[in-house]
Amino acid sequence: MRDQAASLRSMVSAPREEDGMERSRSSKILTIASGKGGVGKSNFTLNFALALQTLGRKVLVFDADIGMANIDVLMGTTSPYNLYHLLYRQKSIQEIIQLGANGLPYIAGGSGMKELFSLSDRDLEFFAEQVEMIAQEMDYVIFDTGAGLSRENMKFIGAADECMIITTPEPTSITDAYALVKVMHGQENATPFRMIVNRVENEQESERVADKIAGVAKRFLQTDIPLLGYVSEDPNVVKAVKRQVPYSLAYPQSKASRDIQRLALRYLAEPAVNQSGTLTGIRGFMKKWLRKTT
Ligand SMILES: Nc1ncnc2c1ncn2[C@@H]1O[C@H](COP(=O)(O)OP(=O)(O)O)[C@@H](O)[C@H]1O
Ligand SMILES: [Mg+2]
Repeated sequence: MRDQAASLRSMVSAPREEDGMERSRSSKILTIASGKGGVGKSNFTLNFALALQTLGRKVLVFDADIGMANIDVLMGTTSPYNLYHLLYRQKSIQEIIQLGANGLPYIAGGSGMKELFSLSDRDLEFFAEQVEMIAQEMDYVIFDTGAGLSRENMKFIGAADECMIITTPEPTSITDAYALVKVMHGQENATPFRMIVNRVENEQESERVADKIAGVAKRFLQTDIPLLGYVSEDPNVVKAVKRQVPYSLAYPQSKASRDIQRLALRYLAEPAVNQSGTLTGIRGFMKKWLRKTT
């Protein structure tokens, strides 16, 4: 494991000096999604973002779970401002960004999320513009979404540069993950997917789960869904949730923390490739956002 981590580390270059203020960064907008709820999306989002930050990347976490926004609960922080204040033009996107654990910038969903999808076209455009603007200053903007196939989730997934699907080894979680892929599949300029298997016994189990989903997707949808990595079943995750401290900070030597570090390294070493075989870059969040979803 150590050797693998070391070789991945050497593949990941440090952020370049010239990626400074005057130059816009080649930011990536990622969506973390799942078919079934409670599979570990929010914990993954938070600890993955912290791992990327430790590797020198500028990351913004956006809590986009409309029903149960809880990124700040997982960090033991509260937010005076959230999306509501942005949508009603009371605050700018810079003003609603909070600093969480380890200074991680995040935007709380709050009550604003309910309003987001009944907005006029002009307001939607304003929202997408604000997201694009902040993305210029970040290496990664990561949306933590709610579970399932709501219209809202599909919009976030469809507008992003890449979507990571989280599943556990449970058959119900696997079938729901595939259902999500199936619904999102086939759109023009479709968002590339990668899979994360959470709560596994070992690496072999993650491969078995990933093979099942990838096999069906290949056969019936002619689409590739590579496995990015896995996070072990680890009782320290539950302990950290209770303490309201992200597990990678509360228990940095735990299995889950080591898995997430390895996963972040691999993520930086292996950028997403879309179905046409080209690397993703900024693909116009706003343009994709405004595209009609059916
Ligand atoms: N790797 C893991 N090992 C053990 N328990 C986990 C792990 N990941 C998640 N959990 C458990 O699952 C619960 C739900 O996780 P959460 O991130 O809130 O899921 P989601 O955002 O998908 O609803 C956590 O509170 C924790 O108890
Ligand atoms: Mg969640």
